[in-house]
Amino acid sequence: MAPMTRSFCPGGVPTLEVAEYYVRRALGEVGLIISEGTVVNRPSSSNDPDIPRFYGEPSLCGWKEVITRVHSAGGIMAPQLWHMGVVAPKDSGWLTPAPFEGPSGLVAPGKIGGVAMTQQDIEATIGAFAQAAADAKSLGFDAIEIHGAHGYLIDQFFWHLTNQRNDGYGGSTLGERSRFAREIITAVRQSVGPDFVISLRVSQWKLQDYSARLATTPQAMEQWLLPLVDAGVDIFHCSQRRFWEPEFAGSDLNFAGWAKKLTGKTSITVGSVGLSGEFIAAFKGESSKPSSLDELLRRLDRGDFDLVAVGRALIADAGWSKKIREGRTSELVGFTKEALAKLV
Ligand SMILES: Cc1cc2nc3c(=O)[nH]c(=O)nc-3n(C[C@H](O)[C@H](O)[C@H](O)COP(=O)(O)O)c2cc1C
Repeated sequence: MAPMTRSFCPGGVPTLEVAEYYVRRALGEVGLIISEGTVVNRPSSSNDPDIPRFYGEPSLCGWKEVITRVHSAGGIMAPQLWHMGVVAPKDSGWLTPAPFEGPSGLVAPGKIGGVAMTQQDIEATIGAFAQAAADAKSLGFDAIEIHGAHGYLIDQFFWHLTNQRNDGYGGSTLGERSRFAREIITAVRQSVGPDFVISLRVSQWKLQDYSARLATTPQAMEQWLLPLVDAGVDIFHCSQRRFWEPEFAGSDLNFAGWAKKLTGKTSITVGSVGLSGEFIAAFKGESSKPSSLDELLRRLDRGDFDLVAVGRALIADAGWSKKIREGRTSELVGFTKEALAKLV
């Protein structure tokens, strides 16, 4: 199950309703549940009070209940640890206790929306990720995922248009701008030990620019990802909006295909699996019908990637995996925007 923000956690605390939502996916035979993004302990890591926190006693107690129930239902689960960086405030007008923070205070290229992080802010943020990872392990989670994608904090450091720093966290190469991510992963690895699985979600595209690309050649992708492997990444979760789109000219390999080929690490693909339309259009109201898995299976059988993340199909239908496994395709339900309004 792909990580998907649902905003059903008042005050950042996962409720029993949220726990049961994940339990239904475990009972539906999802192989690995990655939680909705859950924010680390920084004053402005989130723009929404209903997004779960991964710090503070009430939130961690809520997460303990989630993982205990998911395990009892036979599931395994990783929380997705998140810091949004500089984002737009929510329409509700809810305000964070401190300004949004990012590499250069930019919410989008050329547009200030917060403050540039000091060395102290950077160190505290690295510490917050390490603490959250340690807490995930001690609560009993099976792995963690770090959200390094989609134009949020870590990706704001990767991207030259939002990282304009001229200290050691900026630079003209992707390798230089990856230092923040490398330091987070190194600290997380130290806090969880050698055997706990760390997944890193990465994307070329950003919410600020769907056509943005961090790595335009396989060589650039290698220079980006290999140092992250050295820092401690076990799995690259390669976010695309449509899994069948080739990453570079001259090959039909997608992002997860290249990540696995270049690093030798486990990779996860994602993006419109089993659905006719993609997810940004879905936010604007487009419905998606169930679609064939043949092309996905061709790539999976070829060994391009190891795992497949499924998003909206699993929001709409907790039993999606079981139905697929049992060949009950006529019972698949598709996705409409209305499915976001409640936890089914
Ligand atoms: C409602 C919703 C919330 C999402 N929230 C997150 C999130 O918290 N973290 C993240 O990395 N991706 C998030 N995504 C992206 C999904 O993980 C996934 O990559 C995307 O939906 C494409 O998969 P799909 O086509 O199977 O839905 C979200 C997507 C949806 C539809």
